[in-house]
Amino acid sequence: MVIKVLLIYFSGTGITRHFATLIQERMAANGYSCDLLDLEELTDITVLWQKKPVALPYTIRAEVKRPLSNYPWPYLTLDEALHAVTENPVLKKLENEWADYDLIGFGSPVYGFRPAPIMIRFLLDLPNFKKPKKVFSFATHDGAQGDYENFTRQVLTDKGFKFIGHLDHSFVYSASVIMRKSFDHLSAGRLLVRKSALARQSINFFLKYLDNVFKGIPDIYRITNPLSIIFGLPYRLIYSYGIDFLLNHFLFGFGIHKKKCIQCMTCVMQCPQGLIELDEDGYPLRLYHCMYCLRCLNWCPTDALYFSRLTDGKARFPGPEVLLEAANQDEMASRLRTF
Ligand SMILES: Cc1cc2nc3c(=O)[nH]c(=O)nc-3n(C[C@H](O)[C@H](O)[C@H](O)COP(=O)(O)O)c2cc1C
Ligand code: SF4
Ligand code: SF4
Repeated sequence: MVIKVLLIYFSGTGITRHFATLIQERMAANGYSCDLLDLEELTDITVLWQKKPVALPYTIRAEVKRPLSNYPWPYLTLDEALHAVTENPVLKKLENEWADYDLIGFGSPVYGFRPAPIMIRFLLDLPNFKKPKKVFSFATHDGAQGDYENFTRQVLTDKGFKFIGHLDHSFVYSASVIMRKSFDHLSAGRLLVRKSALARQSINFFLKYLDNVFKGIPDIYRITNPLSIIFGLPYRLIYSYGIDFLLNHFLFGFGIHKKKCIQCMTCVMQCPQGLIELDEDGYPLRLYHCMYCLRCLNWCPTDALYFSRLTDGKARFPGPEVLLEAANQDEMASRLRTF
């Protein structure tokens, strides 16, 4: 029997999507059937999110200090959101649509030790499935996922799913690029190739565990690797204090160089939370509760946007495809040289 898997993911700047395609690739090579679904294509996630926005602590601390507009959507803190879980009628059909899948994976970047707020909203809005379905979570991060896995397991278990495991990987430090003077695509591309090879190994390990799950052999997968807790500690400290400090004092805000802006609307259309509108002169204006996915900043074709002076005139992250292309071109050129 072929096991059918669905991977649903949110990806701010492409790394989590890259991880999802690696999982799909390994699953196909091991006889699974695996479909990918970008959360932003599944439903009008912007509307879903805007009805009941969830703001993580780093957003609240940053934006309460310096509000960005006069258009404050009432938001829920994470605790409030967890205490007000209801099924969303818009998502009710999913139980039927997913009936054929034997396993569902939910993937997100780690933001402040949690899934991206837009993924949290989606998970909390899911219907309570009548038949318990097997699910797992997957995540990409920069070395400090904290209790992401426990959080996701709890939310999914409360929804009636059978949570069977978690896969995570750290690839390139994409979040710090916006503060760097320059960003070398070739060396980052080579790093991404190396990290992808390591990710394939841990996916293969996970697949061996999955085979056992579907054969009915009791769980053997070590959900939390104790070494990752020890080695993750410095990153955890950096993220708890460093990122918070940066967001609160230096990073938040939304600046625009009007002379550079060509009013192409890329930032407006790309924002997964639907936060950017045009002002009366046609320039982008960001509203409240930004999750800082960094997409508008990275995708603006003319580098007209910045969050703060710390990110003004700095490098931008072009996405994993561009980095892999740079590494591939280099590999081909060096092969030609050896002929
Ligand atoms: C606002 C924000 C918060 C983040 N918080 C964490 C964190 O707590 N721990 C961590 O290891 N990485 C953190 N990161 C890094 C991302 O998890 C990492 O860059 C991820 O691979 C990005 O995936 P994406 O390209 O799919 O958006 C954060 C990134 C952003 C933008
Ligand atoms: S993406 Fe950049 S150039 Fe395009 S509208 Fe937004 S700020 Fe202006
Ligand atoms: S405003 Fe920019 S950084 Fe904030 S959620 Fe939208 S695209 Fe992401």
